Amino acid sequence: MASLTIRKLDEGVKTYLRLRSARNRRSVEEEVRVILGELIEGREEPLTPFSAPPEASPAPASLRSSAVPEASVTLIIGGGIAAFKSLDLIRRLKERRIEVRCVLTKAAEQFVTPLSVSALSHERVHTDLFDPQSEFDAGHIRLARDCDLIVVAPATADLMAKMANGHADDLASAILLATNRKILLAPAMNPLMWNNAATRRNVAQLQRDGVLLIGPNSGEMAEAGEAGVGRMSEAIEIATAAEKLLRPPVPRPLAGKRVLITAGPTHEPIDPVRYIANRSSGKQGFAIAAAAQAAGAEVILVSGPVDLDDPAGVTVKHVESARQMLEQVQSALPADIAIFAAAVADWRVANEGEQKLKKTSAGMPPLQLVENPDILATISKLADKRPPLVIGFAAETEHLIDNAKSKLARKGCDWIVANDVSPATGVMGGDRNTVHLISKNAANSEITVDSWPVMTKEQVAIELVAHIVKSVTHTSVDKSANKFSEPAS
Ligand SMILES: Cc1cc2nc3c(=O)[nH]c(=O)nc-3n(C[C@H](O)[C@H](O)[C@H](O)COP(=O)(O)O)c2cc1C
Repeated sequence: MASLTIRKLDEGVKTYLRLRSARNRRSVEEEVRVILGELIEGREEPLTPFSAPPEASPAPASLRSSAVPEASVTLIIGGGIAAFKSLDLIRRLKERRIEVRCVLTKAAEQFVTPLSVSALSHERVHTDLFDPQSEFDAGHIRLARDCDLIVVAPATADLMAKMANGHADDLASAILLATNRKILLAPAMNPLMWNNAATRRNVAQLQRDGVLLIGPNSGEMAEAGEAGVGRMSEAIEIATAAEKLLRPPVPRPLAGKRVLITAGPTHEPIDPVRYIANRSSGKQGFAIAAAAQAAGAEVILVSGPVDLDDPAGVTVKHVESARQMLEQVQSALPADIAIFAAAVADWRVANEGEQKLKKTSAGMPPLQLVENPDILATISKLADKRPPLVIGFAAETEHLIDNAKSKLARKGCDWIVANDVSPATGVMGGDRNTVHLISKNAANSEITVDSWPVMTKEQVAIELVAHIVKSVTHTSVDKSANKFSEPAS
């Protein structure tokens, strides 16, 4: 029979199930079984499937989506003195939004009670391989697989011996044999047990099998006057190690780099109510800001008037005109990388009207235009404070590559992202972009044109940031992130 993974259900359904099972003092799984049974017997009162029951609506903030656990652990508690620390471990995991389902060995029940474990985990505790309530649909297999990680704490000498030899004669060892999830062991035992040749052999075998270990630490034992290697790692250490396995650190290749980005159009005032503008939406520049931020950079985004939300974690300076944009760009320096994606107006009105221009019998007022500051050229040609990598955008409607190449030379930047903004392409204001990355080799000034396929603006941003990462860093992903302490021998 197919098994149901509660954690993969819709958030609304999960919240409803949690509230209903808490109200009926049942585990979530038991509640699902009851609901299914009632449905089959046709007794279930009609409920809006995804809404909480009346007395529970609205769900308390702690149960709403942001607080819903995102990962789950099956915690196996072995029969050792350190089992009391596992009660704290349950709390530590839950405060990290990790769902915990607990299994106690028979020996563990001598040290902690199923009642306290279930009160802390808010779930039914599993103790018996031959439990008809759980096993009608192979409960031990669900405990082995309907989780993201199995933690064994304390991992007794006995439990490790069983694992190393593939035993499955109780619930804990059957789960450990039936799982395809990572296993993290927190051994705890007397130093003589830990150093015994049989334990050494078993630990070595488990490590060869890919099982991860945390600890044991060195220190005083529960037995009076005994000390050495064998103390279980502290709950906080185990919870941190579990969280690292469940949520591996995201690579941040631009950490420590400051990236300055411009985006959007500029508005050049004619009078207090009218302005000259262009059709830029700012979407491409905003997407680059978000991608650079996700890569770990400190991002300053100078944006013209747009209808977009500020990207999270980015410092945004809102401006109107080209001159204001230049001012903000200059005050944001120094930067490691500057990306000028804004569609800055080339011209502005020479004599901006102080009052709204009126229709007169003298005919239309003449609009005298003057050139705006060239932000890309100004920053590219700075003697000091020039960012080591300056990237411009070229929005062209004809002779795209040729115009972009000459722009690269004229402006003095390092790369140009050229995009065809003819109305037929739908690039201006649209969600997709077809770009050509034109770059100058710093060593021999050779120009390279790299044409990318049509992509969403987010994909273009990610691709551009990947190119930047390649060019400004030589860092590789920290492969030590998931390593745990080797057991002492
Ligand atoms: C008071 C007491 C404390 C124990 N502490 C430990 C311990 O810390 N580590 C260990 O490996 N075994 C310890 N044991 C032995 C285990 O409880 C015993 O090997 C048991 O069979 C383990 O069962 P389990 O691995 O199924 O939990 C202790 C036994 C007693 C009576």
